[in-house]
Amino acid sequence: MEKLALLGGPKAKTVPFATGKRFGEPELQQLREALAQETLFYWKGGKVKAFTRKFADLYQSDYCVAASSGTAAIHVALGALGISEGDEVITSPITDMGSVIGILYQNAIPVFADLDPHTYNLTAAAIEERITDRTKAVVVVHLAGNAADMDPIMAVARKHGLRVVEDCAQSYMCRYRGRLAGTIGDIGCFSLNDFKHISAGDGGMLIMNEEDLYYRAFRFADKNYNRFPQTPGSTMRDIESLAPNYRMNELTGAVAIAQLDRLESICERRGSYGDRLTTGISGLPGLQPPQVLPGGRSSYWFYMLRIDEQAAGVSRNDFCAALQAEGVPCSPGYIPTCVYDYPIFRNQSAYPGTHSPFDSPHYGREIKYGPGLCPVAEEILATAIQMPVNEFYTDQDLQEVIAAIRKVSAYYQK
Ligand SMILES: Cc1ncc(COP(=O)(O)O)c(C=O)c1O
Repeated sequence: MEKLALLGGPKAKTVPFATGKRFGEPELQQLREALAQETLFYWKGGKVKAFTRKFADLYQSDYCVAASSGTAAIHVALGALGISEGDEVITSPITDMGSVIGILYQNAIPVFADLDPHTYNLTAAAIEERITDRTKAVVVVHLAGNAADMDPIMAVARKHGLRVVEDCAQSYMCRYRGRLAGTIGDIGCFSLNDFKHISAGDGGMLIMNEEDLYYRAFRFADKNYNRFPQTPGSTMRDIESLAPNYRMNELTGAVAIAQLDRLESICERRGSYGDRLTTGISGLPGLQPPQVLPGGRSSYWFYMLRIDEQAAGVSRNDFCAALQAEGVPCSPGYIPTCVYDYPIFRNQSAYPGTHSPFDSPHYGREIKYGPGLCPVAEEILATAIQMPVNEFYTDQDLQEVIAAIRKVSAYYQK
């Protein structure tokens, strides 16, 4: 039995994790070109246009619209789909606020459905349970680089006439039965915030194949200005409903072009690391690696396994403390609670001083949020262990992480 580092033994991780640079000459060159245009406005310049073409090509989508963040992209998607006051939109309780902010800004009602215990993503059955005559759309979050089971989800959505937005903020180049996540629903949304696979500081994109949705999304991201007036007599300022300014600027577009060249190799490296980590720790008592569905490919924005404390012989906190002492970063849990347990939902306080949109007369019914709503999701958060993944990690990093987990697991099995 190897002595745990926690108890004074040698650390399983013998060298620091490899690191690398995310930005370099290609980004600088793009930025120089953007500045040389003498405009940083997307409609006049060429960078955002080139970036959206390039992203659409990569995803083999007909259209791509740029936005100022992933949150903005999801809001634009909902705006383009016509989501409005009194509508219900089903989404995941384990996600970033960015998945629900747009729902609330459209004065619609977020409805949370439960998750698969192994992929941590929405299931078709859980979605169907939540459908009412008010349901208009589903925002399917592909968590941590891994795809939700989209075929049954699309079948349920089509059966009930619902639109599907895929939130791929954490899941670039993630595959579901060979298809890219983001190309399966009606609109796929992505984030370029600094923590994602690729970064432009902040930024977002939407992809879609319907021409009409493209024009609606394009307008919604830009104050509903009509920059393509087609019908005789119509003008740019024929504005009939509210939309924000979520435009991407040329500097962001420039960096994003260069980042896109790095994307496939980043996702490939992360995918390989995560899959090999799963192979390396499979079968350890009480440890459940994340499940990638058959024919799928995760790009592991992070790695999240679950612990059964009884079978593992150790509490989650003690397991994490032992692993950290071995030199392997990890943390118990992911977000502190399901999103529906955040004060904004518990108190229905989206807009200060009111309970709008939850008490909207256009909604006219009651919605309750709080613990117990999605038991599987709550169980996932109570048993999750999150570990970082990075494209710069080496084979030695991987082998030492596996060795550390195996060592800690063996110790508590004694
Ligand atoms: C699943 C998910 N959706 C949406 C977002 C929002 O993206 P952004 O931070 O670019 O607004 C994030 C960001 O963390 C995310 O993880």
